[in-house]
Amino acid sequence: MAAIASGVGAVVGFFFLFFFAASPYGEAALVEHTFVVSQIKLNHLCNETLVTVVNGQLPGPAIEVTEGDSVVVHVINKSPHGVTIHWHGVKQLLNCWADGPVMVTQCPIQPNNNFTYRFDVVGQEGTLWWHAHVGCLRATVHGALIIRPRPGGSGSYPFPKPDKEIPIIIGEWWEISPVELEKGIAKGDFTDLPRSATINGKLGDLNNCSGVIEDNYILDVVRGKTYLLRMVNAALHSEYYFKIAGHTFTVVSADANYVKPYTTDTIVVAPGETVDAMFVADAPPGRYYMVLVNSKTIEGPVQTRGVVNYIPSKGSDDTPILAPEITGQDDATTSFYFHGNLTSLPHSLMRPVPRNVDEQLLVAIDTGYTCEEGDPTCGPVSRMNNISFQLPTTTSLLQAHYYHNMSSSIREFPGRIPPGTVFNKGRTLKATSVRRVRYNTTVEIVFQGPPDGIVYSNPMHLHGHDFFVLAQGLGKYDATKDVQTYNLVDPPVRNTALVPISGWTAIRFVANNPGVWFLHCHFEKHVSSGMGMVLIVENGPTLETTLPPPPTDFPSCDDQSGGVAYE
Ligand code: C2O
Repeated sequence: MAAIASGVGAVVGFFFLFFFAASPYGEAALVEHTFVVSQIKLNHLCNETLVTVVNGQLPGPAIEVTEGDSVVVHVINKSPHGVTIHWHGVKQLLNCWADGPVMVTQCPIQPNNNFTYRFDVVGQEGTLWWHAHVGCLRATVHGALIIRPRPGGSGSYPFPKPDKEIPIIIGEWWEISPVELEKGIAKGDFTDLPRSATINGKLGDLNNCSGVIEDNYILDVVRGKTYLLRMVNAALHSEYYFKIAGHTFTVVSADANYVKPYTTDTIVVAPGETVDAMFVADAPPGRYYMVLVNSKTIEGPVQTRGVVNYIPSKGSDDTPILAPEITGQDDATTSFYFHGNLTSLPHSLMRPVPRNVDEQLLVAIDTGYTCEEGDPTCGPVSRMNNISFQLPTTTSLLQAHYYHNMSSSIREFPGRIPPGTVFNKGRTLKATSVRRVRYNTTVEIVFQGPPDGIVYSNPMHLHGHDFFVLAQGLGKYDATKDVQTYNLVDPPVRNTALVPISGWTAIRFVANNPGVWFLHCHFEKHVSSGMGMVLIVENGPTLETTLPPPPTDFPSCDDQSGGVAYE
């Protein structure tokens, strides 16, 4: 499904992959890839744009595993940027070293250097993904990570086996370079926008320049067959609504956790989220648009479309293509209900919801200023409990934690909304903020978005753990009243919690994975301007609950000359 970019051969002639298929006895296999990161030129909308990609492909190669497999990815950095790769949603139990967020767990892999990521994929099935975790590089450095059930393990899908599985990678086409974009965001300039959304790298026929129409992503289907769409929102900027004219979906999984079959005509995916949805090609043979448009936002539409094409085709190429009706820029409701309606499916991989909470954090997520309001010398920053997160610059937090040399400038992240906080007002502190929790602490976090005025949802992503999404609501969280609405029976399990516009979301998890884990909004403009914090989970009492030492080839922090795009 990945389009091979033009001009690849010259740049990257070199891409290999060994895939040892699982044995009939269901033994774990080793899945090995080599990711060559390099720059290529792509031509869209009358412009040649230099983009950083893996193996010359956009989206990058999909990693396909069976639950329980071990993954080895050799990253060879032939790009001029410092690079890291994050395996989004992989729990990385006792393996924080392989998690990837720059300066949180590791220093970047410098240009002309290599690093090999090694991790196991255990107790998770469905669709996850991988992406660069340095500045805005993930705009084009991303791909799917598909986990299928293990024969002899859970064995099979808890839904009818689809005839075909189709990755749908949602991206965005930016003409501004990721480094320039990052610099703008750091200065508080949030005005840059993508030129288009993309489906599997295609900009689609809503875009043309000087009469040259951009290619559509085309999905050929056969009448009566069932398709499993594995959707990933890899975009920097927007939450998206997805629809196919004349068809409905059954959602079966989100963030690689099964959900009770949920029928809908619109799929909603925020940045960082994944959704697996089935559809049956049961419409009269013909051609149907699949449409992707951003959900409620202050900016104009960012959209794209592709085509579902019944084969053998009926009629000629000029048969009209049916378009679906779709809401977008004014619609926050569809997203609210889509997220709120998902419930988990009872399954052998499910854990019970912990009833007792050891530590509850109440976290305001919003934007503010580092100087007095109205002072023209400082632009807005994003923040959590009034702290705008700063990455360290010399050593990663994981290394500092492991070797017991945490800088004294690191702040304790407050567990309460600072008193007197008025949303979007008040002095903001810029700091590297961390919160330590003991091994096996049950943590509940209530994320509180600005109660009104701001038209952004916030997809909050936690590394190293999945969590239960217990409830969401509009307005201001009211502990006594809102606890009554918690779903403690079958809440969805996710790695990204969408906090609705003008509302709140409550999550709960057991901090059972020692290490240093980033928690941040997956909108790039938010994370790059400070909407993040770090959770440090301490070691447990035994060797089996203690983070092992780093791999011997762990990237050095001595040479930061290749530049980190987050400066
Ligand atoms: Cu998908 Cu911190 O990342």
